[in-house]
Amino acid sequence: MPWRDHLDPYAIWVSEIMLQQTRVNTVVPYFERWMNMFPGISELANSTEADVLAAWEGLGYYSRARNLRLAAQIIMNEYQGRLPGDVKELIRLPGVGRYTAGAIASIAFKADEPTLDGNIRRVFARLFDIRESVDTPSGEKILWTLLNAELPEGRAGDFNQGLMDLGATLCTPQNPECGQCPLCGICQARAKGVQTERPILKSKPIQPHFTYVGAIIREGNRYLLVKRPSQGLLGGMWEFPNYRVVNEEAADKYLERLMAERYGVKVKITSKQGIFKHAYTHFRLTLQLYNVKILTDNLAVPDMCWVPADELLNYPMGKVARQISKTLKSNEKRQL
Ligand code: ADE
Repeated sequence: MPWRDHLDPYAIWVSEIMLQQTRVNTVVPYFERWMNMFPGISELANSTEADVLAAWEGLGYYSRARNLRLAAQIIMNEYQGRLPGDVKELIRLPGVGRYTAGAIASIAFKADEPTLDGNIRRVFARLFDIRESVDTPSGEKILWTLLNAELPEGRAGDFNQGLMDLGATLCTPQNPECGQCPLCGICQARAKGVQTERPILKSKPIQPHFTYVGAIIREGNRYLLVKRPSQGLLGGMWEFPNYRVVNEEAADKYLERLMAERYGVKVKITSKQGIFKHAYTHFRLTLQLYNVKILTDNLAVPDMCWVPADELLNYPMGKVARQISKTLKSNEKRQL
């Protein structure tokens, strides 16, 4: 893990934000590229949102990239360019919660602070055979109390990272390798043979599934992209015009009607491009994508641009729009 060689708190902070929802192996190349592009807090503070979104593309949860940049600007303005080392100050930065603040304070500043991520939660739920749901406020309180009690003074960073590594390598959700675990002899769940039944989690609600319709609009060799609002899911990223289907109307008729209503243009579907699927954290999406011709010439979409197929890859996009861009680009190549 390249960040373990860094003594710079900035590098530790970046790595912890990247590791929040992403596995170590995926993070490594992104971390190295990020540190080359934005070697310090001032470079990050002086970047543009498009720069950080481009560097983050493919990692998902893009608010993490936007928040890193905003936090860098706060650190330049309010902390003389130095990352604060105290949990209470760290939590005030956008994108830094209790867990990340504990990790940064203990690893980068050697503070005696615990942290609690999904791996540590599983390790401790097994070690102490916690029979409550650990993803509830009361379950979390039990875990924080135990972590505080076990924290070795002056070694919190090693303690926290050791527990994370144990959870990532041996104390895995399925088939934990108890025979190789250095804590096997003191693991209460293992002693009772219930290790795979811990942690107990409250049942998850079923994820909704939404259908969208989208339009590929081409003029000459260029395609129409529209920019998403800067707040919310995939904020500030580019995509092909698309809408959630909220009534029973056939998807193609719905698309023609909506584009007429939103943009005041008459459009006609010429063919179906295909179906694209993606699972976000809170919902699953199926996109019915159509090739669309504009019959009038007064298209006025806010935040739009016309982009040649081979430049689509230069625009920050989510997974679905990227997949579509790649398809368009390879279709174009085949036609040449
Ligand atoms: N996951 C989140 N932070 C981590 C770290 N510092 N080491 C290993 N895994 C992690």
